[in-house]
Amino acid sequence: MLDKKTIDIIKSTVPALKAHGLEITKTFYKTMFERNPEVAPLFNMDRQKSGEQPKALAMSILASAQNIDNLSAIMPVVEKIAIRHCDSGVKPEHYPIVGENLLLAIKEVLGDAATDEIIDAWGKTYEVLAQVFIDVEAKIYASRV
Ligand code: HEM
Repeated sequence: MLDKKTIDIIKSTVPALKAHGLEITKTFYKTMFERNPEVAPLFNMDRQKSGEQPKALAMSILASAQNIDNLSAIMPVVEKIAIRHCDSGVKPEHYPIVGENLLLAIKEVLGDAATDEIIDAWGKTYEVLAQVFIDVEAKIYASRV
């Protein structure tokens, strides 16, 4: 589980993320599709262009940050997103790719405000969240065989 300091850092970054949530997510997709073009075919590019999917991801990052010490609160949302992920063919090995590019985007958008401590806290938090998704998605995939 995450330590108190990490949770405090995550909670204190929520206002900055609220201000920059959409910008971070847009930068994230641009960076990820440049560095890891192999994941682009998973995404529906019409929804990318309309901004619909970037907005949904930005909101889910904020929701998870706000509830990082109470993950059960976001489980109903996780279950819904996980179904969408399984429909799109998202696999466990894709999670580190998203995590790495998300941290790069947070760094780029927050600039000097993104201290090593903040980036480290987000890295740890993302790992916890990613594992929650991977576990739920493994069950969905198993039920579909
Ligand atoms: C903790 C990490 C993640 C979170 C919080 C997250 C969140 C979301 C959200 C909120 C949606 C929108 C659901 C909807 O519109 O109904 C979504 C869709 C999607 N996500 Fe994720 N996601 C994560 C990881 C990943 C990973 C690792 C991949 C694979 C590269 C991925 C690929 C997709 C795809 C392909 C869609 C469908 C949307 C489209 O077709 O454009 N996600 N995700």
